[in-house]
Amino acid sequence: MKLSVIGTGYLGATHAAAMASLGFDVVGVDVDPKKIELLKVGKVPFFEPDLEDLLIAEVNSGRLKFTTDFSEAKDYDVHFICVGTPQQQGSLAADMKYVDAALDAIAPHAKTGSLIVGKSTVPVGTAEQLSKRLRELGSKAELAWNPEFLREGFAVEDTLRPNRLVVGVTSDSAEEILKRAYKPLLDNNVPWIRADLPTAELVKVAANSFLATKISFINAMAEICEAAGGDVTVLAKAIGYDPRIGSRFLQAGIGFGGGCLPKDIRAFMARSEELGAKQSLEFLREIDSINLRARQRMIDLVRLDLGADLKGKRIAVLGAAFKPESDDVRDSPALDIAAQVAAAGADVYVFDPKANSNAKLRFPALNYSHSVEECLSGAEIVLHLTEWKEFRALDPIKVKSLVARPNIIDGRNALDKAAWESAGWHFRGLGRATR
Ligand code: UGA
Repeated sequence: MKLSVIGTGYLGATHAAAMASLGFDVVGVDVDPKKIELLKVGKVPFFEPDLEDLLIAEVNSGRLKFTTDFSEAKDYDVHFICVGTPQQQGSLAADMKYVDAALDAIAPHAKTGSLIVGKSTVPVGTAEQLSKRLRELGSKAELAWNPEFLREGFAVEDTLRPNRLVVGVTSDSAEEILKRAYKPLLDNNVPWIRADLPTAELVKVAANSFLATKISFINAMAEICEAAGGDVTVLAKAIGYDPRIGSRFLQAGIGFGGGCLPKDIRAFMARSEELGAKQSLEFLREIDSINLRARQRMIDLVRLDLGADLKGKRIAVLGAAFKPESDDVRDSPALDIAAQVAAAGADVYVFDPKANSNAKLRFPALNYSHSVEECLSGAEIVLHLTEWKEFRALDPIKVKSLVARPNIIDGRNALDKAAWESAGWHFRGLGRATR
């Protein structure tokens, strides 16, 4: 089988390389010639662990090609749509222009009997609309939906060893084609769920909404712990032992960001309103506000230590990416906090092992350090905002000599509080009582 992958961002580039590694001939298609030129020579235009090695191996094997020309996919059997669906300007809804453009671009080249498979995260009802559009365009290809659950930072692992495969199909033949495409994964007993189109679309946004809810739940508990003098990290550990609750995604801190969770819960709310089911997702509004409040609470703690007026105060910010193992700064809580304290007049120095350059494109006025040491030097307070391994491994005794005042706020509750305190640091964590 020959597969095309339309859109070569995190999802598409990873999917293309992973499917080639399963032995298929794959062509990745994108409208961005710069991206395609890089991918052709085995270069990944963003940071994603293990992806570059896989990409180089598959490009060298001859199974994986990249192009900007949709006609190169003309005799292919399956076309995966992997383009982005960002939040629309001035609205909660998703911007569907890339999905619509991808369908229109591939439709004239998709042969009779081929399958066009949406993997992008979309508002429920999109697949049905796209099927209609395919028929209007006179195409004899069929449409299916196969949502993707990969996490940035683990994209390769999640693509080759997913928790489950969900396929929304309208015929047995479409399911058979997808079973052939995923045979190596099915041979490894990955659960296979056949659904109708709307259910397949909904599974993805339901999963992300649940994850967002879990994070905001623990961050609401963090607010209560702060008010009552408790410690949210102990609370999370204790409730997490109940297997019905589970300990994952109960890390309290400055909240969720990135290109998925925030925009997906917002688009889900917007779509529920269109469906006349607004009330059912009203709680997501609260999930969103708890999430954004966590950033504000972090800034309140900074003011508690440095005083209300932050003008001229030197602040070290460790982390700019929305999470570790990623250089993605889209809706990053870390970068948002850095920008807000800078807007209040503070002299902010940011260091991220991978995301400095993306952060600089977004907020060029912040100071970007080349190392942790440079970032911490002369700081009146240190904000730990993205829990990279190298930050968690810092020696509090060693780095104390760099700063002007040994104040640290752990915005991710990932540092060893006792070790920092015994090294003489004044330590705060979101949702944790302070001496
Ligand atoms: C998320 C989902 O986890 C994936 O399953 C999904 O496929 C993907 O979105 C998508 O829709 O494409 P991702 O955006 O890579 O993946 O990031 P997550 O690992 O989910 O983390 C999201 C945010 O939540 C990060 O900012 C992270 O720091 C934060 N988080 C996570 C917490 O604040 N606490 C936690 O306990 C866990």
